[in-house]
Amino acid sequence: MSGSANPQPGGPLLGGPADPEHDPSAAYVLDRGYVDRLTSRLQASSGRTFAVNSPIDGAPLAHIPASTPADVAEAYVRARRAQAAWARVPVETRAAAMLRLHDLILDRQAEIIDLIVLESGKARKHAFDEPLHIALTARYYARTAERFLGTERRGGVVPGLTRVEVNQVPKGVVGIISPWNYPFTMALCDGLPALLAGNAVVAKPDEQTMLSALLGARLLDEAGFPEDLWQVVAGPGPEIGPPLIEGADYVCFTGSTATGRVIAGQCAERLIGCSLELGGKNPLLVLRDADLERAAEGAVRASFSNAGQLCVSTERIFVADQVYDRFVERFVARTEAMTLGATLDWGNDMGTLVSQAQLDRVMAHIDDAVAHGARVLAGGRARPDLGPYYVEPTILEGVTPEMACFAHETFGPVVSLYRFHDEADAVARANEGDYGLNAAIFSHDGARARSLARHIKCGSVNINEAFAASFASLDAPMGGMRSSGLGRRQSREGILRYTEPQTVATQRLLRFAPMLGMSEEAYAKLMTANLRVMKRLGRA
Ligand code: NAI
Ligand code: MG
Repeated sequence: MSGSANPQPGGPLLGGPADPEHDPSAAYVLDRGYVDRLTSRLQASSGRTFAVNSPIDGAPLAHIPASTPADVAEAYVRARRAQAAWARVPVETRAAAMLRLHDLILDRQAEIIDLIVLESGKARKHAFDEPLHIALTARYYARTAERFLGTERRGGVVPGLTRVEVNQVPKGVVGIISPWNYPFTMALCDGLPALLAGNAVVAKPDEQTMLSALLGARLLDEAGFPEDLWQVVAGPGPEIGPPLIEGADYVCFTGSTATGRVIAGQCAERLIGCSLELGGKNPLLVLRDADLERAAEGAVRASFSNAGQLCVSTERIFVADQVYDRFVERFVARTEAMTLGATLDWGNDMGTLVSQAQLDRVMAHIDDAVAHGARVLAGGRARPDLGPYYVEPTILEGVTPEMACFAHETFGPVVSLYRFHDEADAVARANEGDYGLNAAIFSHDGARARSLARHIKCGSVNINEAFAASFASLDAPMGGMRSSGLGRRQSREGILRYTEPQTVATQRLLRFAPMLGMSEEAYAKLMTANLRVMKRLGRA
């Protein structure tokens, strides 16, 4: 594993006049005017600020004004006002703004990626996935929103006499709580369908990665969305989360299962809905007929994309006995050949973890596994020479249930290898535990892999791919079973979570009561006869 430690400054956001509070030892100094343009987008009146640090060197990148609960309430007042007008804007006008956002994202990708890399420390190629995913999401929903949101005719109880239509009415203001691991795409992607469906948004991005989220808000403004429609508040989750949920008509959360449970409880109190995209302990199966080069290449991306800080990344690999040694040799070789570095250029295969907390958690999992007898086949060490929170991509063998990384999500570049003898056993082991987010199967026999997939308790199963095939197929739902979540993003499900279906039924001629002096008893008989006829006619 080769490493490179030289930072490579670039992009429009670096190099201007610095924040007076800036740390002179920092590798990157953000232009002060640039930061001010972003932070002025916040609803924040506390007079307090908090630092956003770059994991590349651990030094502060910017100081972010903190919001108070009163600011959150004010954000809802503004959002509600904007939403009332927005709900009357035709869907095609909303969609046109979304397509402008698509173009802006592609045109401004260098700036977006620079900021993501500086704030998250991820490899540039993994940061690229973020504008890519937002552009895909913007185009997908711009092109499908009218179809999903249009008023739909449904069958009436009395054919020909009961006309039934279903409208999709926006919920109102959606509260979005997003994490640091994909600070740009996770701050935006769930909000785009919410806007298209006629809602406003109050967003609370993770406090560690506010700048990427604020750049997203600025790009929405530039695309022509009314500014008040997308509010951003800043601060610690336990402080800002409760007022955010208090004001919302629906909550969309991405983050840990523990926080997801807290949020679901608060939404339940208020009888509002929520969607939760939570953790995973995602399995990858290499069947005996797999193309082993392809499986090894896929396993590297599955395990180490974004340094494993990805909800759908693989943490457990089950390999058929017959091919175990040959697969492991290839997987280890590819892992050892990875280029590591926390820099702005395209050369790195993996960047750094985001924070000291992530470093502690990942090293605790590795150290615990090693202490209990697991073998390290690749990596296994922190790399302070590359960055303060750097950990090597790590492959473990001999992991047993008493080790923390057997069942608990590591959320880092650590993967465990297990052998299996028969596929039913592999599926049963893949299904152990409480999670159910994503799985992958490598096999030459697509049909057999698809039939195995039906038995895996995960919201998505990728065949001969790690996670991108399902994740980027926006016409299909994405989300978790069991403790991995509630509800789905993407596709029809991902936009209709933000609407209330409203049924409008128009009745002609017939009343639902006895007519022309008919007795209740005769009416009941007539209705009973009608039901029998309807069934005979094969009606639903
Ligand atoms: P977290 O779930 O605590 O944070 C995610 C978001 O929730 C942040 O915006 C945070 O400010 C907010 N939040 C925290 N507590 C809150 C509360 N009481 N009310 C409302 N909002 C609240 O995750 P954290 O602590 O950053 O990471 C811990 C672990 O969670 C990771 O190691 C990983 O296992 C998992 N995680 C999973 C993610 C995913 O994509 N599914 C993303 C981030 C973390
Ligand atoms: Mg937390």
